[in-house]
Amino acid sequence: MAENFRKNLTLPDLAATSLLGARIAAVLRPGDLVALSGDLGAGKTTLARAILGALGVGEHVPSPSFTLVQSYDTPHLRVSHYDLYRLKRPGELAELGLDDALEDGAALVEWPERARLPEGLTITLDSAAAGRRAVLEGPARWRVLENVDV
Ligand SMILES: Nc1ncnc2c1ncn2[C@@H]1O[C@H](COP(=O)(O)OP(=O)(O)O)[C@@H](O)[C@H]1O
Ligand SMILES: [Mg+2]
Repeated sequence: MAENFRKNLTLPDLAATSLLGARIAAVLRPGDLVALSGDLGAGKTTLARAILGALGVGEHVPSPSFTLVQSYDTPHLRVSHYDLYRLKRPGELAELGLDDALEDGAALVEWPERARLPEGLTITLDSAAAGRRAVLEGPARWRVLENVDV
């Protein structure tokens, strides 16, 4: 069986987060789910914005904390950005169209622990002495990020 992927990174500043976002954007394809885990203020939305920005989303990317989901048609990929913090029941996710979103696009999901999600890349963000710490974990598919350095 192919080995799972795991990698620790330090993101000392916003430029490092932007770079990580660009590296993820470069390999993102339909069916990919990227779970962004971490406490309030950990940098989940910042990383989601970096991924979307690298994919060419020029407009302002709001935090979807009230709408729960916001979708973007980027030139090569449709990306749905979820924030499940205010999800009332795990079943509500089906109504938010996650399955459809993954059928023809990729999904970035903040507060993934609020629901039962399909397999994907999980990025856990945490405060560090300077900036943030990121732990990337996922199935073998995500070993494409093995050599990422920021
Ligand atoms: N790598 C980083 N270094 C320093 N500050 C960061 C970094 N990533 C995010 N931040 C800052 O953390 C704050 C909260 O980020 P945000 O993305 O809104 O968190 P979350 O969505 O996890 O609640 C923002 O002010 C952002 O600029
Ligand atoms: Mg957020």
